Amino acid sequence: MKQNTNKYLIIGATGKTGARVYNKLNELGLNVKGANRQGEIHFDWRAPETWAAALMGIDSVYLTYYPDLAIPEAPEDIAKFCALAKIKGVKHITLLSGRGEPAAQVCEEIVQKSGISWTVVRASWFNQNFSEGMFRAFVDAGTIALPVGAITEPFIDVEDICDVVVASLLDTRHSGNLYEVTGPELLSFVQLADIFTEELHRSVDFVQISHAAFGANLQHNNVDPKAIEMLTYLFTEVLDGRNEFIADGVERALGRPARRFKEFVSANRLAFLGGSQ
Ligand SMILES: NC(=O)c1ccc[n+]([C@@H]2O[C@H](COP(=O)([O-])OP(=O)(O)OC[C@H]3O[C@@H](n4cnc5c(N)ncnc54)[C@H](OP(=O)(O)O)[C@@H]3O)[C@@H](O)[C@H]2O)c1
Repeated sequence: MKQNTNKYLIIGATGKTGARVYNKLNELGLNVKGANRQGEIHFDWRAPETWAAALMGIDSVYLTYYPDLAIPEAPEDIAKFCALAKIKGVKHITLLSGRGEPAAQVCEEIVQKSGISWTVVRASWFNQNFSEGMFRAFVDAGTIALPVGAITEPFIDVEDICDVVVASLLDTRHSGNLYEVTGPELLSFVQLADIFTEELHRSVDFVQISHAAFGANLQHNNVDPKAIEMLTYLFTEVLDGRNEFIADGVERALGRPARRFKEFVSANRLAFLGGSQ
């Protein structure tokens, strides 16, 4: 079999998906470089002068944008990045996108029309927002307090997202595919809290709070203002029922079902109970 000599660049290599994709490629013995603001390759979305050096000699890119493809700067950044990637000879880009965000879909189209082979992985809410993200503290405290009502969401395990991303980076059959990836079940935040209670054998509740109280909590915890803006957008606009359906991207890309939320909590039980991840 022909040896894979491709060079891979992971943007956001310390993030929830980026770190896993980096590790998975590394474990396969592939030539992979991680890029972020303090990584082995210095890359900053807010400093375009860092982009060209990061793309030097790269064949395939896993592209994650921060804080979200819905921010006003994103389309211009993505367009400039793709144009530069083309000049630098990049052959494939896999883009991580979010569901139900028209602004993110503008960025998807930019990648799709870049003239570079592409895969788009359009994901629902990550399970890992509750283990590695800013909502972990809610689980530890036993109360998930968010400005959201009876809405349901098909939360996805980032391990599934990463398996799809890795497949897309290794196999050209995934080129030109948009995979909408979700978990296999729609869960309300009350049901999600109940799963934590059941699996961790300790009480985790859900309470709906006002948008104002949520914003004040984030400010109090020194969350980056751009991230606060994104979360406000997410809770006021995106979580309005538009994403209350399950998509088959994991099955289509990998030929197996996506993991259930219950499996995620159970697999991370010790980390949740130990207070760290
Ligand atoms: N979380 C979800 O539920 C969800 C769902 C669907 C889609 N997404 C998408 O996933 C992406 C990542 O989301 P996340 O919030 O879960 O974050 P994350 O991937 O866990 O972490 C963010 C990554 O981006 C890097 N980063 C931060 N600021 C950067 C900058 N200015 N330039 C370059 N790299 C930077 C961070 O590294 P350094 O801080 O070291 O630079 C880190 O590696 C977003 O585009 C989001 O829309 C998320």
